[in-house]
Amino acid sequence: MSGTSGFETIWWQSGTVYQVYPRSFQDTDGDGVGDLPGITARLDYLAWLGVDAVWISPFYRSPMADFGYDVADYCDVDPLFGTLADFDALIAEAHRRKLKVILDFVPNHSSIEHPWFAESRASRESPKRDWYIWRDAAPDGGLPNNWLSNFGGPAWTRDEATGQYYYHAFLPEQPDLNWRNPDVRAAMHDVLRFWLERGVDGFRVDVIWHLIKDEGFRDNPENADFEAHQAGINRFQQVYSCDRPEVLDVIAGMRAVLRAYGERVLIGEIYLPIERLVAYYGPGLTGADLPFNFQLIQTPWRADAVAALVEEYEAALPQGGWPNWVLGNHDQPRIAARIGEAQARIAAMLLLTLRGTPTLYYGDEIGLGRVPVPPERAQDPWGRNEPGHGRDPARTPMQWEDAPHAGFSTGTPWLPQSADAARRNVDEMRDDSRSILTLYRRLLALRRDHPALSVGDYRGMQLPPDLAGDVLAFERIAEGETLRILLNFGSAERNLALEDGSAWTVLLSTHAGRSGETAQRNICLEPDEGFILGALSV
Ligand code: GLC
Repeated sequence: MSGTSGFETIWWQSGTVYQVYPRSFQDTDGDGVGDLPGITARLDYLAWLGVDAVWISPFYRSPMADFGYDVADYCDVDPLFGTLADFDALIAEAHRRKLKVILDFVPNHSSIEHPWFAESRASRESPKRDWYIWRDAAPDGGLPNNWLSNFGGPAWTRDEATGQYYYHAFLPEQPDLNWRNPDVRAAMHDVLRFWLERGVDGFRVDVIWHLIKDEGFRDNPENADFEAHQAGINRFQQVYSCDRPEVLDVIAGMRAVLRAYGERVLIGEIYLPIERLVAYYGPGLTGADLPFNFQLIQTPWRADAVAALVEEYEAALPQGGWPNWVLGNHDQPRIAARIGEAQARIAAMLLLTLRGTPTLYYGDEIGLGRVPVPPERAQDPWGRNEPGHGRDPARTPMQWEDAPHAGFSTGTPWLPQSADAARRNVDEMRDDSRSILTLYRRLLALRRDHPALSVGDYRGMQLPPDLAGDVLAFERIAEGETLRILLNFGSAERNLALEDGSAWTVLLSTHAGRSGETAQRNICLEPDEGFILGALSV
């Protein structure tokens, strides 16, 4: 059994996070792009849904080469999204509803248009030269090393003015900052303080495992598992360009800034296997509060695979390290697109019953899938560089009601909406007891009402081999309460023996109309059905 029940928990442990991609949540000025007043206008919805915190993807001043993940001013709001006054209103209104606000902090790289970079590139003697990563060509005149960009092509671009190359792990418009330079750290800590002073409750830190690069800029080794012509960046193991041990010290520095403000959360975006991921809790838990755990996105959708994953992750967590789970985000295919609508309901129940902080991605609660984006409307620079990698289909505007553009905007939305938007929207689904939105809301309510679900211990249950491929079973346990979760990943009916003979009641089923049923010796899961069972008191 794993867990820490009995400990005092804090909001980002017991609570749930909801990610808003601001371009796509709610537009209020008719330009087809969402904005901060739009998020404020929808806070009542988030409170109704029952989440505890909202994480907002970047809204800072930006030329939008990577839709805001290229920041030209870390301390201002891009006019596309509104003003600082709009931000202040958003946070005040969120707090009035007891919702926390988490910002997206993008410290690994700035925009090429940031004044720091303009100064840095101006001359080799510039006081800010060392704020970015400049290297000479290799002795043979080639690129400084073999590092590749995550968005395709080399990670080095030659700057004519000074004849050196600058490093960019992503687009050439996103030069990497040099976090080995103490002045960069100090400037970025000031950015954190700027937003903490405005009341933010934490940060999701973009590509945090990238912040420190190998001091000697060694070539990344070849990856034997990939065919050179098909793998892109995966041709090489990213061992020198990121995930360097010194990064933990940088993260501890950020965490210390946050701690001075009380219970603020630091979430780190980290795409690494479990054994590397958990290192980011840092020595003595001085690292990220929540190193983002993307394993549910990357693991095959089978009950036995997910059971093994949960066991492995729970076992790898350091003492006191708090777990977390997520099904999707603005960089990944939508969960409903990946596993289908029926299983998306199982995924919702899994996400909200596992031990650890869940993060929901906007639109998943209405079952949004992959929205086709015709080539002439494609937006994502990654997809344009490397066809097939486009993230647009998972970033389409939220669907609120049966109205023009599903109530998202009075203008033409920047990306299309789903063909079934007249039906698949909040307004149509909120009073429908069978909708996935209702399921999400009930799950969030149960999680709030039952400490066993939000902060209880986790205990995996062994099932007979003929069931284990399709059914995931576990318990969540807190003082005085044990809940049992049974999830059918398959499309056949499954009968389970409840060996101990105790009596259970269905607190919630993914299928409408079964709540309140009781079971003693056996329980029957319909295809694609999940249960949260509570002990029946007699
Ligand atoms: C992160 C963001 C992604 C962005 C990249 C570069 O992975 O989530 O959207 O493109 O960093 O900033």
